[in-house]
Amino acid sequence: MRMHLMVVVSVFWLPLGLTEPSLPSGSKAGIHCVPRKTVPFQSENGHLFYEEGVWNYSTMLLREDLGLMVLGARENIYALDINNISNKISSVSWKVTPKQKVDCTNKGKDPIQCQNYIVILHTMKDGRMYVCGTNAFQPGCDYMSYTGGQLKLENKLEDGKGKCPFDPFQRYSSIMIDDELYSATSINFLGSEPAVTRTSSSSSIRTDFKSSWLNEPTFVSMAQIPESKSSLVGDDDKVYLFFSETALEFDSYSKMQVSRVARVCKGDLGGQRTLQKKWTSFLKARVDCPVPGSQLPYIIQDTYRWCEGEDWSTCVFYAVFTPQVDGWDMSAVCAYSVLDIGKVFSEGKYKTPVSVETSFVKWVMFTGDVPSPRPGACIDNKARGQSINRSLDLPDQTLQFIKDRPLMDQAILPIGKGPLLTHRGAAFTRIIVHRTQDLDGRKHHVMFIGTENGSVLKAINYDKEMFIIEEVQLFKSSQPIKVLHFSDTMGHLYAGSEYGAVQMPFSSCGRSVSCEDCVLSRDPFCAWDKTKAQCIAVFTAKANSDLIQSLRAGNFSLCPATEPLKLVNHTVWLGDNLKLQCVPTSNLAETRWHHDAQPVYPSPRRQILRDGLHIVSASASDAGHYRCVSLEHSFTGAYTTTVAEHRLSVGLGKEGRKTDVQTEGSSLAVLQASVACLAIVLAVLLGWNLYKGHLPLPGTCERAKQRAGRGENRGDEEVSSQPGTVKNTLLVSGETNCTSNNNTCSRAVEFTGIKDGETEAEASMLFIDELEN
Ligand SMILES: *[C@@H]1O[C@H](CO)[C@@H](O)[C@H](O)[C@H]1NC(C)=O
Ligand SMILES: *[C@@H]1O[C@H](CO)[C@@H](O)[C@H](O)[C@H]1NC(C)=O
Ligand SMILES: *[C@@H]1O[C@H](CO)[C@@H](O)[C@H](O)[C@H]1NC(C)=O
Ligand SMILES: *[C@@H]1O[C@H](CO)[C@@H](O)[C@H](O)[C@H]1NC(C)=O
Ligand SMILES: *[C@@H]1O[C@H](CO)[C@@H](O)[C@H](O)[C@H]1NC(C)=O
Ligand SMILES: *[C@@H]1O[C@H](CO)[C@@H](O)[C@H](O)[C@H]1NC(C)=O
Ligand SMILES: *[C@@H]1O[C@H](CO)[C@@H](O)[C@H](O)[C@H]1NC(C)=O
Ligand SMILES: *[C@@H]1O[C@H](CO)[C@@H](O)[C@H](O)[C@H]1NC(C)=O
Repeated sequence: MRMHLMVVVSVFWLPLGLTEPSLPSGSKAGIHCVPRKTVPFQSENGHLFYEEGVWNYSTMLLREDLGLMVLGARENIYALDINNISNKISSVSWKVTPKQKVDCTNKGKDPIQCQNYIVILHTMKDGRMYVCGTNAFQPGCDYMSYTGGQLKLENKLEDGKGKCPFDPFQRYSSIMIDDELYSATSINFLGSEPAVTRTSSSSSIRTDFKSSWLNEPTFVSMAQIPESKSSLVGDDDKVYLFFSETALEFDSYSKMQVSRVARVCKGDLGGQRTLQKKWTSFLKARVDCPVPGSQLPYIIQDTYRWCEGEDWSTCVFYAVFTPQVDGWDMSAVCAYSVLDIGKVFSEGKYKTPVSVETSFVKWVMFTGDVPSPRPGACIDNKARGQSINRSLDLPDQTLQFIKDRPLMDQAILPIGKGPLLTHRGAAFTRIIVHRTQDLDGRKHHVMFIGTENGSVLKAINYDKEMFIIEEVQLFKSSQPIKVLHFSDTMGHLYAGSEYGAVQMPFSSCGRSVSCEDCVLSRDPFCAWDKTKAQCIAVFTAKANSDLIQSLRAGNFSLCPATEPLKLVNHTVWLGDNLKLQCVPTSNLAETRWHHDAQPVYPSPRRQILRDGLHIVSASASDAGHYRCVSLEHSFTGAYTTTVAEHRLSVGLGKEGRKTDVQTEGSSLAVLQASVACLAIVLAVLLGWNLYKGHLPLPGTCERAKQRAGRGENRGDEEVSSQPGTVKNTLLVSGETNCTSNNNTCSRAVEFTGIKDGETEAEASMLFIDELEN
C-alpha cells in the first residue's frame, strides 16, 4: 500500500521540469502542434450575432426541427435563423426585478452578478423548452414555447435551486433526459454545497454532502449513454459526469486538482433507509491525460460524446485538458472509450479511507470482501434474481459501502495511453468532434477546439500523427469560447463567447488558391477539383468530378503542372539594401533560396527572413536569378513548391539611377494606386524627416555625404540625431501602410537608403515587388 502511494505521489509531485516535452509520435510531431494556417479575424470567417449592451452568450440549443439556434445570454434569449444566425427571428428578455437586484446587492454581491444569466436551455418531450437563469442569486426556471415565429416564456416560475447555479461564474453542467433534469451545480447561495441532482415534477435525488463524494468540484459536462439497449445482463442507462476536484487520495502538501468521471444509473431511486433520496450508484474515478513532460495531472475542461450510430459501445469521450500550473501553456486532447470507463466501474477495485495516526486519513485500495449486489452497480438481471428490482430494495450493507467509498482505485487512461493532440498557445476551452469521410471512404474524426483567445482549431489525428489544419480567429477580441455546437445537416459550427455568437462552416476550402496548398492542407472536407481548378468542399462535388486529395501524405504530385511564375525584375544600386519577397504558403513551410541555382546560406549580408531575403549592401556578385522555394514536411515526405522568382541587376553608375519600377503583369490601376500611396507615404515621411532635420534640404547634400552610406554603418540606424541619416527601419518596416490596399502599399515599399550626392527624391529608391502577380 505504502509503496503504491509513494509511487503515485512521486509521479505527480516532482518539481516541474523545464524540459521540452517530447511528444509521442516521433520527431516530426513537434511541428504538427503548430496550426498549418492561421486565419486572422475577418468578417468572412462566419456570421456573427450579438446585440448592443447584451453579454455572455454562453448557452446554446440547436433546434434543427424548428430551424433555430436558440441562444441564451444575460437577461435575454434569442431565436436565430439556423442558416444565418445574423438573422434574429425572435427574442424574449427575462430580467430581474429591481427588488431582487437590491436584495442581491444587499447580500454583498456585485451588481454585475445580480442579473439573470441564462444558463440552462433544454428541449422537453412536448417540444417546449426548459430555461433556467441565475436570477440575481435566486435561480429560477421556466417553460418557453416557440409558436408563430415567436419565443414566449410561460411565466410558470419554478425554483431553480439544485438545477442551476446561484453564481454565474461557477461552472455547472446539466442534461435533460425524458423530462428529468440532471444537474451538477452548487445548491446554496455561498456556492459551497456542490451536488449532482436529478429533478422531475414528482421527485428529486442528489449526491451526499461528503467530501469523499465531491470535494470542491468544478463541473464540466454530462452525457447519457443508453447502456440498457440490447444489454445481455439487463443493465440500466447511465449518465456520465466529468469534473475536476481537489484530490483526497494524495498526501501532497498543497491542494492538488484531479480530473474525474462519475456516473449514475438512470433508474436509481435512492435507498430505503441508508442513502434516502441520494444516489446509490454514484461512482467516480480519476481520469488521466498523460502529457509528456508534465508532472502534475492535467485538468479537464470540456468533453464531447461521440458515438457510431446507435451502438453505445462505440461511444468515445473526447476531452480537452489544460495544465494546473500557470506558465505552462500546453493544452491537450485525450479520448476515452466508454467501455474502458465502464470496466473500471463494474470490475475495478475501490479505494477506501484508512486512519493513520490520529487525524490523518489515507486512501488506499480496498482489499476486503465486497458486498453483493456490487456497490454502485445498476440494477441488473442478477440483482433482479435476488429479488432486488429497484435501488430501494438494495441491502444496507451495499449502500453503506458505497456511501463511504465512491472512488475507484484505478484511474481511466485514454485510448492509445496518451493525448491525441497537444498544442502550445491559448488554452483549450471547448471541443466538439465531427466524423467525416474522405474521397476513399475512410472516416476521420475532425476535432474543433475552442480556445481562451476566441479562436477555433481544426485538428485531426492521422494514425497517431497530430495535425492542426488551421486556427481560425472567430472573435475580434480575445474572448474565450464558452460554448461550441454543430449541426450535421447544416455543416456548420456554432460558437458562443461573452461577446457574441458566430456560425462558421466546417471548411472554407476556397482559402486554398493552389492545388498544392489544397492538398497540403490535408483537410478531409476539401479536395482540388481539376476541372474547375478550385479547392472545393467535397460534399458539393459532382459525382464525376476529377478530385485530388491526399490526407495522410499531403502528396500533391498529382496536381496539374502550374504555369511558371512570373519573374520579377529589380535593380539595386551598389551598396544598397533590398528585400526580395517570398511568403511561405503555411506556418509549417520554410523557405529556401537559390541564387543562380546555388543555395543561398544565411550571412550578415544575406538574411533569410520568414517572408523574404534581405540583401544588405548589394555588390555586383549579388546580381542574377533568385528562386524561392517553400518546403513543407508532411508525414511521408517533404514537398517543395517555387513561390517566387526574382531577377536582380546591380546598378553601378549614376547615369542609370532612376526609379526602376519594372513589374510584369501589373495592371495600370495597381501601379497608379501604388504610386499614389507611395507618394503619400513619402510626403509624410519627408515632411517628418525635414521637420526632425534628418534629411538634408536641397543644397545641403554635402552633409549627407558625411554619412558613410555604403552599408558599413548598419548599426547606426538608431543614431537618428545625425543629420542626413535616414532611419532605414522607418521606411523599410511594414508600419508605413497606406490606406486599404495592403498588397500594393505596405508590402511593396522598399527603401534603399541615401547615397553620396543624392537628393532626397533620388535617395528614396522604391521598388515595387509585385510578388502576387
Ligand atoms: C445573413 O444575415 C444578415 C443579416 O440579415 C445579412 O446581412 C447577410 O447578408 C446574411 N448572409 C447570408 C450569407 O445570407
Ligand atoms: C459576462 O460578460 C462580461 C463582458 O465580457 C464579462 O466581463 C463577464 O465576466 C461575463 N460574466 C460571466 C458570468 O461570464
Ligand atoms: C421483482 O419483480 C419480479 C418480477 O417482476 C417479482 O416477481 C418480484 O416479486 C419483485 N420483487 C420485489 C421484492 O418487489
Ligand atoms: C491571446 O490573445 C492575447 C490578446 O490578444 C495575446 O496577448 C496573447 O498572446 C494571445 N495568446 C496566444 C497564446 O495566442
Ligand atoms: C506521391 O505520389 C506520387 C504519385 O502517386 C508517387 O509517385 C510518389 O511516390 C508519392 N510520394 C510520396 C512521398 O509518397
Ligand atoms: C525581366 O528581365 C528579363 C531578363 O532580363 C526579361 O526577359 C524580362 O522581359 C524582364 N521583365 C520585364 C517586365 O521587363
Ligand atoms: C497598418 O495596418 C495594420 C493592419 O491593417 C494596422 O493594424 C496598423 O495599425 C497599420 N499601421 C499604421 C502605421 O498605420
Ligand atoms: C491584406 O490583403 C489581403 C487580401 O487583400 C487580406 O487577406 C489581408 O488580411 C490584408 N492584410 C492586412 C494586414 O490588412
